[in-house]
Amino acid sequence: MPCPSKSDDLVFFVNGRKVIERNVDPEVTLLTFLRKNLRLIGTKYACGRGGCGACTVMVSKRDPLSAKIRHFSITACLVPICSLYGAAVTTVEGVGSINTRLHPVQERIAKSHGTQCGFCTPGMVMSMYTLLRNHQQPSEEQLLEALGGHLCRCTGYRPILAGGRTFCVESDGCRQKGTGKCCLDPGGNDASSLHRESDICTELFAEDEFQPLDPTQELIFPPELLRMAEKPEKQTLTFRGERVTWISPGTLKDLLELKAKHPEAPVVSGNTSLGPAMKSQGHFYPILLSPARIPELSVVSKTSDGLTVGAGCSLAHVKDILAERVSELPEEKTQTYRALLKQLKTLAGQQIRNMASLGGHIISRHCYSDLNPVLAVGNATLNVISEEGTRQIPLNEHFLAGLASADLKPEEILESVYIPHSQKWEFVSAFRQAQCQQNALADVNAGMRVLLREGTDTIEDLSVSYGGVGATTISTQKSCRQLVGRSWNELMLEEACRLLLEEVSLPGWAPGGKVEFKRSLVVSFFFKFYLEVLQALKKLAKFMPDGHHYPEISDHFLSALEDFPITGPQGVQRYQSVDSRQALQDPVGRPIMHLSGLKHATGEAIFCDDIPMVDRELFMVLVTSTRAHAKIISIDWSEALELPGVVDVIRAEDIPGTNGTEEDKLMAADEVLCVGHIICAVVAETDVQAKSAAEKINITYEDLEPVIFTISDAIKHNSFLCPEKKLEQGNVEEAFDQVDQIVEGEVHVGGQEHFYMETQRVLVIPKAEDKELDIYVSTQDPAHVQKTVSSTLNIPINRITCHVKRVGGGFGGKVGKPAVFGAIAAVGAIKTGRPVRLVLDREDDMLITGGRHPLFGKYKVGFMNNGRIKALDIECFLNGGCMLDDSELVTEFLILKLENAYKIRNLRFRGWACMTHLPSNTAFRGFGFPQGTLITESCITAVAAKCGLPPEKIREKNMYKTVDKTIYKQAFSPETLIRCWNECLDKSSFHSRRMQVEEFNKKNYWKKKGMAIVPMKFSVGFAATSYHQAAALVHIYTDGSVLVTHGGNELGQGIHTKMLQVASRELKIPMSSVHICETSTAMVPNTVATAASIGSDVNGRAVQDACQILLKRLEPIIKKNPDGTWEDWIEAAFEQRISLSATGYFRGYKAFMDWEKGEGDPFPYYVYGAACSEVEIDCLTGAHKKIRADIVMDACCSLNPAIDIGQVEGSFIQGMGLYTTEELKYSPEGVLYSRGPDEYKIPAIADVPEEFNVSLLPSSQNPPTIYSSKGLGESGMFLGSSVFFAITDAVAAAHRERGIAEDFTVRSPATPEWVRMACADRFTEMIPRDDPKTFKPWSIPIA
Ligand SMILES: Cc1cc2nc3c(=O)[nH]c(=O)nc-3n(C[C@H](O)[C@H](O)[C@H](O)COP(=O)(O)OP(=O)(O)OC[C@H]3O[C@@H](n4cnc5c(N)ncnc54)[C@H](O)[C@@H]3O)c2cc1C
Ligand code: FES
Ligand code: FES
Repeated sequence: MPCPSKSDDLVFFVNGRKVIERNVDPEVTLLTFLRKNLRLIGTKYACGRGGCGACTVMVSKRDPLSAKIRHFSITACLVPICSLYGAAVTTVEGVGSINTRLHPVQERIAKSHGTQCGFCTPGMVMSMYTLLRNHQQPSEEQLLEALGGHLCRCTGYRPILAGGRTFCVESDGCRQKGTGKCCLDPGGNDASSLHRESDICTELFAEDEFQPLDPTQELIFPPELLRMAEKPEKQTLTFRGERVTWISPGTLKDLLELKAKHPEAPVVSGNTSLGPAMKSQGHFYPILLSPARIPELSVVSKTSDGLTVGAGCSLAHVKDILAERVSELPEEKTQTYRALLKQLKTLAGQQIRNMASLGGHIISRHCYSDLNPVLAVGNATLNVISEEGTRQIPLNEHFLAGLASADLKPEEILESVYIPHSQKWEFVSAFRQAQCQQNALADVNAGMRVLLREGTDTIEDLSVSYGGVGATTISTQKSCRQLVGRSWNELMLEEACRLLLEEVSLPGWAPGGKVEFKRSLVVSFFFKFYLEVLQALKKLAKFMPDGHHYPEISDHFLSALEDFPITGPQGVQRYQSVDSRQALQDPVGRPIMHLSGLKHATGEAIFCDDIPMVDRELFMVLVTSTRAHAKIISIDWSEALELPGVVDVIRAEDIPGTNGTEEDKLMAADEVLCVGHIICAVVAETDVQAKSAAEKINITYEDLEPVIFTISDAIKHNSFLCPEKKLEQGNVEEAFDQVDQIVEGEVHVGGQEHFYMETQRVLVIPKAEDKELDIYVSTQDPAHVQKTVSSTLNIPINRITCHVKRVGGGFGGKVGKPAVFGAIAAVGAIKTGRPVRLVLDREDDMLITGGRHPLFGKYKVGFMNNGRIKALDIECFLNGGCMLDDSELVTEFLILKLENAYKIRNLRFRGWACMTHLPSNTAFRGFGFPQGTLITESCITAVAAKCGLPPEKIREKNMYKTVDKTIYKQAFSPETLIRCWNECLDKSSFHSRRMQVEEFNKKNYWKKKGMAIVPMKFSVGFAATSYHQAAALVHIYTDGSVLVTHGGNELGQGIHTKMLQVASRELKIPMSSVHICETSTAMVPNTVATAASIGSDVNGRAVQDACQILLKRLEPIIKKNPDGTWEDWIEAAFEQRISLSATGYFRGYKAFMDWEKGEGDPFPYYVYGAACSEVEIDCLTGAHKKIRADIVMDACCSLNPAIDIGQVEGSFIQGMGLYTTEELKYSPEGVLYSRGPDEYKIPAIADVPEEFNVSLLPSSQNPPTIYSSKGLGESGMFLGSSVFFAITDAVAAAHRERGIAEDFTVRSPATPEWVRMACADRFTEMIPRDDPKTFKPWSIPIA
């Protein structure tokens, strides 16, 4: 038993080194400990909730039962440090380093171009590394499983998987699926390609250059830990912190004694439920009991009638055990195990399954629990134990409802779970539907079991449990009882659906929303179960006395039975190889790895928050409004200031200069305009202290009217941020009079969260002299941060230096906002005279920073019966949020780009940015284009439906065909657009596959396929000349090494790599002789934001200019000594007093727009492209599978095809997220619910199309750009809409079959909820519908 006052030493190993913590704080997580105490900063914080995988490390432990060493991946952000007693932790630093030895995993992920910003990379490396420690040659399935718990916002996953696949057994190097040909064989590529295939490369890396995996090189399990594990101490270990004591008993007896003594103390197993609850719901427990050292809780025993699994077994272990039983036993006995296995495949990610225990899962009784519904119907029993002895509790509806009489007593713990075998004539199934296929909590899940009387179809026993439709798992006892004795037939099905809908009564206002969808799933799942049982009975028919009297399932309906498999993307990437005459040393046009790729993979790439703590540093936490529109009556910070470590509270009054602008204030002074509006900030010695103090600040408000959240309310209140933007050509009204048909419609496009993996961060260091400040900030626009800090502090710009080493993803979200955080942190630094660090946690970042503008569009399109569009009138309303930010510019860009690829003579486009009481929306990749063009493309599909023609025909008919002028009178040639379109049709075998899709749809009622191809004309650049200027500074040092600095920021898009390629070509020296350190306002002043897809281009021109200036200066020396080396020439230049430093400058492309006249030349050039996608939808659940995507993109002469293909793939997947899964949810009070990866689903690896092909169109035009390259940063976003239109195409197929009108309102994202409800059928007809006027909904649509 523990000694009351003593704190034990915590002993564990990290990367082979022993760590002994004498006064460990149980509240500290492994992530914090690694980063702060051990300075192992390779492990990253991105969400803090186990949902993104950025903090993945490997833990190794000796399993006391099998005596084997187990290696498993975990998310360090959820692991309490005290739980690691006796464990060995391996972080990315322990795997390999660029300074010593790279591990093959690190090498391959980097060289296969699997890193862009690199923030997710260490986590990915650790999951792959752990996989290889367990399986030297894993299967593809295992690789997918290992990476399923990771998020990457940049790459689109395909290249990460490509790197990982090189370790797999089946790695065959060929990704040209289904053709029987290998893309690497001569002539293996599609013969109908427009260009000679000899010019086309399909390899982005050379696999044969990779070092082999040598398992003998791996760190061994520390012998000291082995000895400790072999002779485990039985004594209780106690770790006492300031607020919390962690007690880890060594025996079950002690654990039970402790539980009796501290009945309120939770038993911390995996901490994946407790940890997030303590963090987000403020649960606090002064004593925590750890069962980690009790082997009895991990015992598994097999009996002749079932399986008993220790409550301490991890879900990953449970999965293995169940798989083993399934392989050992006859199918009839393993029905429940199979159903559990099905759920375990998609339950969370691998890391969570490694950590979470079966006991913790059951006891948590989450409403979304995937296992409890199955365990409940499978008649599982809980074996509980206390000092009093053991007893059994059925895992039934009473336990699940938390009835005291059916629950554990406070002094009891769960020891194990008994799961009985199923029997003959018993059928068990599991179902779940979530926003995405993998790593997403289910909206609804279910476990269903039926026992039929032997040899009959009569129901003897039936159990149906649902998750997601109440506060916990719901068992539908009443319905099931009423169905006993009924035959398993259609009549029973009808009756069952009616009863289930009655019993699972979900009110219209139910938390989580999606009420009608959930009701539909309740019956759709039962229908699936009904069919599954019928299918199984068919097999058993031979045992029936009268043979085959079961209802037959028609082949047409069989598709209801299949689930979509989880698959990883395969595909081919095509690009034009460099001219064979190009010098080998010249890297331009070659697929060079990202400059920081290897450092990303080893965790040695430094991000803003990786900068070590500086002397006297303080931590800042922001305090934001909880009201949407209110007057601030008072702010009381007295209690906060009294807390230990708190230094000050920073308010608007503390700003020495200006508090932002009148429209965009940095901090609210007397009025708040949204929930999340920054009111003040606390600075304290530590982050924990600052966070606690922020919670103690008491703000009183007086609510103000009006409160506007939705676009329709904004229109009603005439609430706009800026004047109308309008472009018009021809005579729209006249044209409407002359057309055959007119269609009008509405389009709603939801917003989008940037979800850059690195949240907003800044470190401000005031210097001792002259009010100088050094600011390290994660931004796309350091000059803007510098300027804003200057005006906020009222000091000249020349005292402030902003440094950007690299940014962990920006996507537009780090253009404007970092200046706000930089300025507030700077006020804190000046007021306290100490450095201030501000790191937003994910929740705050999502709450405060805004994102892509939601859009509501209305269109009226007039056309002839042959599909020729004669007139188009579009009105767009953007939800700008509460401040101007970039909303006016976004509206302008939206209007300018709205015509996309179509020549329509009579056009009228009008746009407004609505002012609402939501966080201000801002720049986001594509800047209005991805939302706006969804309206244009929706018009096309509407016209197609009316004309009875396929949408691609309407697109072709109306596309620009010859040299022409845009709506704003800018001349351009669409030749490349047409080439992209044709090549995409060709490469995707569009027409033949379209026929196959139609055939499939004829044969399948419950699954439908859809296909869509979209063209794209995307204008690159800012519509203003001054924004196209760029500068660079190039120094040549006396050893010949070159330092390049330019105005662009490395956001993951590979700008620094491209700049080195430019410098290398210009100076004719290897890339290895050139270096880029950082972007700094002291080196290159007055820069513009790295945005609008133009960063590499304009900065490349500036670097080129600087290099050419230097080369010109060196020319006489080179002429004099032509055989000399670069170093000789530099030495000579120095001797001759020739300046070896030059500033390069690019004045920028001329660009202007006259909005009065509606004319201009706003964009330097266009990027063209086309994408074709094919999907399959499940009409019963709304799920979809992306079968294939083919993209053809015009990169002209790509500077770096690997980087450019990476941009295309990454932006396509991000666009796909916008249009399919990423859904912001706001409460009726304007509070953003979706503030983390649990609630907001960006695409994960399983969401990438099964076949994903990208071709860069061989060079064609000569744009006025650096080496005729094109900027591809943003354009691919819109091409993701091909997936959206493929989904709506599939839904339309369902409508046609069911005789439902095809003209549905277009809503993006096309979530499973939307798809299910759009595929109306007998089940959606059954569900009760609510009158929206009778209740307050859980969430409101804001677009
Ligand atoms: C990112 C993420 C994704 C997830 N996705 C899914 C998903 O898709 N589907 C799904 O169903 N779930 C999901 N979960 C939930 C997950 O399954 C549960 O959090 C997990 O199973 C809880 O187990 P644990 O060991 O971590 O419990 P802990 O957090 O350690 O404990 C939870 C509760 O159980 C009690 N407890 C633990 N062990 C015992 C015991 N032996 N005796 C008595 N009481 C005990 C504790 O006192 C505590 O009250 C997800 C969780 C995370 C973090
Ligand atoms: S999973 Fe730990 S930071 Fe996201
Ligand atoms: S590279 Fe994966 S998040 Fe940026």
